[in-house]
Formats: sequence, C-alpha cells, structure tokens
Amino acid sequence: MLPIEYHLTSDDLAKTLRDDVHDGLTAHPKSLPPKWFYDERGSVLFERITELPEYYPTRAERAILERHAPDIAAATGADTLVELGAGSGAKTRLLLDAFGAAGTLRRFVPVDVSGDFLQESAARIGAAYPGTDVRPVVADFERHLHLLPAAGRRVVAILGSTIGNLAPTQRLAFLTDLRGTLAAGDALLLGVDLVKDPERLRAAYDDARGVTADFNRNVLRVINRELDADFDPAAFAHVALWDAEAEWIEMRLRAARAQRVRVGALDLDVDFAAGEEMRTEISAKFRHAAVRDELDRAGLTLTHWWTDPADDFAVLLAAP
Ligand code: AVJ
Repeated sequence: MLPIEYHLTSDDLAKTLRDDVHDGLTAHPKSLPPKWFYDERGSVLFERITELPEYYPTRAERAILERHAPDIAAATGADTLVELGAGSGAKTRLLLDAFGAAGTLRRFVPVDVSGDFLQESAARIGAAYPGTDVRPVVADFERHLHLLPAAGRRVVAILGSTIGNLAPTQRLAFLTDLRGTLAAGDALLLGVDLVKDPERLRAAYDDARGVTADFNRNVLRVINRELDADFDPAAFAHVALWDAEAEWIEMRLRAARAQRVRVGALDLDVDFAAGEEMRTEISAKFRHAAVRDELDRAGLTLTHWWTDPADDFAVLLAAP
C-alpha cells in the first residue's frame, strides 16, 4: 500500500458538505457547489459522460495530449508531476509516458479530495511505473496548495477543464495562490474548454440519453444519504443553459412542483416553489486572449497553447 498524505479528513469533508448545503439551500437563489456530484455513483456517471457522443472535451483533450505530451515534457523538463483532481488516469499515463521517455521523471503526486479513489488509482499507477515515486495527497486544492510537496522541478496539472467550475473571481484567486506556490522553473499545465457554437456546448451538457441529467440529480442523492434528507430526485428536472454574457454553461435543477424538503442532519426544512431553479454547476468556456490576460493578472506567463484540430479544447503551459 502506498502511504497517503492527508490534509483533509473525512470529518473535514463532512463538515464542508454540511456548510455548503446549508449555505446553498438557504441562499436566494438556491445553489449547490458541483464538487458534491462525485460520490461513487457520480464518478461512474461522469465516466459515462466522457464517452457520450455529445461530450467532446475529454476526447479533444486526450487527442491534444496524445500528440503533444512529448512537447510538454520537453518544454518543462519536469521531474515531478503534480496532478490536481486526479481523474481516471488515462491522461495521466500519456504524461507519465512522455516524461518517462524524456528521462526526467522522478515523482508523481496525485491530489484528490477522496482518499478511497486516490488509494486505488495511485496503486495502479505505482505498479505501472515502478521507477516513479508515487506520493498521493488527499487535499482540497482550493485550500491546501501551500501544503503540496515543493521539491523538484514541478509541473502542476489541472486537466479536463476542471478550472471552469470556478467562478471568475474564485478562479483568479486560485491562480494567484497557485502562482505563489510555484518556483522558477516550475510550470502550470492547464486544460481548458473553448467557446464554440452554443448549440454544441449545450448539447454536451444535455445529452440525448439523459446521463448528464442523472449526474446532475445525483447531488440530491448524495445529500439524502449524507445529511439525512428526503429530496425526491424525480421531482427535479435537469436544465443546461448557455450564458452568452458570462460565457459559461450553467446546470440547474428545476423543481417540477412546489415541495418541502427536510434535511435532517441540518434540522432544516427547505421550500421550493413550482418551477424554482437551483444552480448546481457552472462550466466556463475560454478564449486564448482572455486566458492569457487572466494568467498575467495572476502573475503567470502563457508560454504554450495547443489545440485539437477542431479548436474545441486547449492545453496550455504557463510559467511563474
Ligand atoms: C469535470 C467539471 C470539467 O464541466 O464539463 C460534465 C463536469 N458536468 N457534464 C464539465 C460535467 C456536466 C465537467 N468537469
């Protein structure tokens, strides 16, 4: 078993969930943060989303990494890969292979909020890359950046357009914090989904098979189980809309009828009006010039920008 470093216990996580749900359900309009989609069922649903014909980002990013991972290894010369929000591992392997081939790789630090998930995926990676020191860390990357291992020449990867879940103010704060933890010679590797035809964007978040709708409603099941609530997921409709002003996709859950929901663990009763909408996710879409300017404001310099042939997605490198 690989030793895991914990900066977050299951008690911390439980407390954050309580606070998030309390704040979100008592706010006007109501909202819930997207990070609570990903219990075991939610993670399986997300994996299914990545295989949907409408959901292009995962395939587009993989195509970029297949083609440019060696360029990334050459440009960074990194000996340490830190992956924030380590996913299923397929993209990680493309990077580890390229860093391995470049002969520089020594250490891999996958970072995730869930220890169970991390233990498994880190063990698999460790077995496949016996020459690499695998150091899984359980942490919330919005809060524990300064606690991540700082040794070596690091590339910090945030793939899958995960950064799109942050609202612009939060995002700039996060990038600025991250910049503060990077040393000269380190690099940020970021995957970002690009602005494109609104109908394609919307379809990617409202697929014909309804997998995204199930994923969206899954947050209600998580709250039912973890906080002793009685949401009826079937009483909420999935909504995905493109906000052309903000240039983000917004997912919401719309109450099909007026209802009262009890959240036992919070001793809270929440009323929904018929048709009331609760925001569950934003997924920002990006443009080259705006990303460059935002990185600048965070004290980072955009050095490389790779896209897939259709210009659907970009993977970029930035230097402190
Ligand atoms: C994993 C946050 C990048 O925003 O595209 C997929 C999550 N939500 N379908 C995204 C998601 C609905 C995904 N991220």
